Parts: sequence; C-alpha cells; structure tokens
Amino acid sequence: MSISRRAVLAAAGLTGLSAGTALLSGCASSSTSVTGPSGTPASLEVFSWWTEGGEAAALASLVSEFHVHNPHIDFVNRAVAGGAGANAKAELARRLKAGNPPDTFQGQAGAMLDDYIDAGQLEDLGFLYRQQGWNRLLSPTLLQLTQRGGKQWSVPLDIHHINLIWANKRVCEHAGVPTAPASVADFVTALHKVAATGKNPLAISVTPNEIWQLKHLMECLLLAELGAAGWPSLWRRGGDWGSPQVTAALEALREILSLAVNPTAEVTWNQASAMVGNGTAAYQIMGDWTEATFTLAGLSPRRDYAWSTAPGTSEAFLFASDCFTLPKGAKDRDAAIAWLVECGSQAGQDSFTTVKGAIPPRAVIGSTERGLFDQYSNWSMVEWTTKQVVGSLTHGVVARAAWNNAIDAALNAFVTNRDPGRLQTALEAAAKQYAA
Ligand code: GAL
Repeated sequence: MSISRRAVLAAAGLTGLSAGTALLSGCASSSTSVTGPSGTPASLEVFSWWTEGGEAAALASLVSEFHVHNPHIDFVNRAVAGGAGANAKAELARRLKAGNPPDTFQGQAGAMLDDYIDAGQLEDLGFLYRQQGWNRLLSPTLLQLTQRGGKQWSVPLDIHHINLIWANKRVCEHAGVPTAPASVADFVTALHKVAATGKNPLAISVTPNEIWQLKHLMECLLLAELGAAGWPSLWRRGGDWGSPQVTAALEALREILSLAVNPTAEVTWNQASAMVGNGTAAYQIMGDWTEATFTLAGLSPRRDYAWSTAPGTSEAFLFASDCFTLPKGAKDRDAAIAWLVECGSQAGQDSFTTVKGAIPPRAVIGSTERGLFDQYSNWSMVEWTTKQVVGSLTHGVVARAAWNNAIDAALNAFVTNRDPGRLQTALEAAAKQYAA
C-alpha cells in the first residue's frame, strides 16, 4: 500500500473537519497525464456522495492509490453532496434514465442496486470476478449481496457498521451517564440527565434533506426491539409492522427526538459528529464514518470520545457496504474497469477503509493487515466475525429506493405530527405496497 491512514491525515494537516475535501481537490487535479495505455485520452468520471469529513479524505486516499497503478488516467470527481446519498441517489437515477451514466458510480450492496439491475443499466461483472479471484477473496456475506440471478453487479469496497452510538466522554462524565447505555430505557434516562445539565443530549438533524439521520436512528431502535432474529422479517412479504415491538420502538423514537435540541435545524451528519466531538452534544447514533471524522479532528478514543453498539443491539452487527459498478454505456469503460480492479484489491480497500473508519470486505484479514487499522476498526473487525450480521435499511441493503422513499415520507410527516401511531400505520402501508 502506498499511502497509509496516517500519511493521509498528516497530508490533511489534521486541520479540522473539512480537511479531506481540500485534499481531495488536490488529488483530483494532480493527475496531469491525458493519455491512456493505448494512447487515447483516458479520464474516469467517478460518481459518489463522499464530500464530507472523513468520507472525502477516504476517497482521496483511494484515488492516490489508484494513481499509483494508473498514472495515465485522470480522475474526475463527480461527488454530489448529501449524507447517505440524499441528493446523489436521485441525481444518479436521472442520469441513468437519460442514458448519460458516469463511468462508475457508488452503490450499496443489496437492494439499492435492484432498480438499476432490473432496468438493464449495469454490466455483469462476472468476468472481472473470475479474472481477479474475488469469489474466493471477498467475504461470503457480501458475495451473496453483490450477485443476483447468477451475475455479479458490483464490487464491494468496504463494510460499515451502522448500529453505533458515539459519545463525548467529558459531557457524559459531567452528567453522570454511561457513554454506552446498554438498553433503550437506559439511553432515554441518560438523555434526560444530560438535558438537565443544559447540554444537547443528542446531535441529530431531521430536515427533509437529513431525514435519513432519523431513519438511521429508527432502524437502530427497531433492531433493539425486534432483535437480530426479528429485524430481517420486516423486509419480507408479510412482515409484521403492526407488532407491539414496532410500537415500542416508534414510541421511543418520539421520546428520544423530543429530547434533542433543535433537531429541525439543517446539520449534516459530519457537523452533528463535530457537535459530539467538541462537547456541544453528548451522543450521536451514526455509522462508523463518524470515527473517521473524529480522527481527522485529532480526537482520541481514550481521551475524548467513546463508541459502542447502539443501545439494546449488542448481539447484532447492522451493516452496509459501499460498492462500485460498471454502467452500460460508460464513456471510458477501460478506465472504469481499472477503478473496479482497484476497489476489489487489498491495497485499494485498505487505502480507503483505513481512512473511512470502515473495514475491508475480505474473507480473511491477516494480522499484518490489521496493524494498518486503528483501535476502532480492529474492534469492528472482531464484531463482524462474532455478531449476528444483519443488513441496513438507510444504507441500501434491505429495501429498494421506492420503499425507502415511502419511509422517508412517513418520517417527514412524523417530524411535524410527532405521532408514533400514524407513523406505524404509514410504515405498515409502505411494507404492504413494497415488500417483494
Ligand atoms: C452511507 C455510506 C457511507 C457514508 C454515509 C454518510 O450511506 O454508505 O459510505 O458515506 O452514507 O454519507
């Protein structure tokens, strides 16, 4: 690997939460060659939503590694801002429908790609899997998700941990609350105690653009109530969205949201993480891209922050996996294939995941490789192999776009009416309409 996590962070100067973006622009323009191996101009248009904090820095790290192997390919960054692809997913769907695909785009292993597969917009990557030996090298859990109908549709780049709580140590200590509340009830008690000290107990934003942050919280609460065995049944036809467990989770959602200070202000996930990092807020329930943001800000897990599985979900590893694809009609197909090879390689995955706060999607991670990763990622690697692995709603695994959009609409209404009963009815209706 040519660039380590430490090198990227040092290059970013640890100058704060937007350092990655500056570094990324530097990387994107640093490739000056305009000819590919065959003498023709080679440029690679990469579509993603990695523009914030640690996600932008991780993309920069991957691009640097890519340029080591492909110095003649210009990297054209087509990232569209908006956490969890809030804007990118709609923009991508428009581009694909209009027959104007990027050379490759960020997807998520699982149902997120179903619409594109059904519409015949992607190339089968079986040839690359065979050539690169990925069926042997990648995690079997992910291999199940990247294939459909005997074909391979994407190349996974990372594994993200979704059911996590992040806490500011000083704020928790001051309020006399645990950094890792064991149950949802303990969490609610802790939020009340923090509120009594005058601090914001929970960093979250629930504007229409950021409604995915509320969906992320909701899925952690549903997982806590239903358990790792019950959660997957919600995503099958006939799943019981009317159950008392779902009712309890949605009531907890109402109470927890009522304790957050000013959640209707527009705050990105990265800004919300910064609020926990700088002690403005006590907790955030968010995926492990938050860890990358803390690291970029120079925070230390021993001194400044703590993480744990989200309250009541310690038996589970709720996961998502970012992946890349080959759209039919990619203008520079060869360059896109070179990018996919990088994404599927150990060097490419390590260059990205060491910075992103994620873990590589490989079947085996050796002890030398583990040494490249920080304390958090090493913990996450152990969780991945010892917990019950279940797929995320918000981050693309279990439900396709239309179902996610219906859930977003139900949550947007809930932000206004704060009525868990109406939310449950809307979620039941969405499941009836969209469960396959
Ligand atoms: C997720 C994605 C992550 C991270 C996050 C916040 O959906 O899988 O890689 O970027 O959104 O934007």
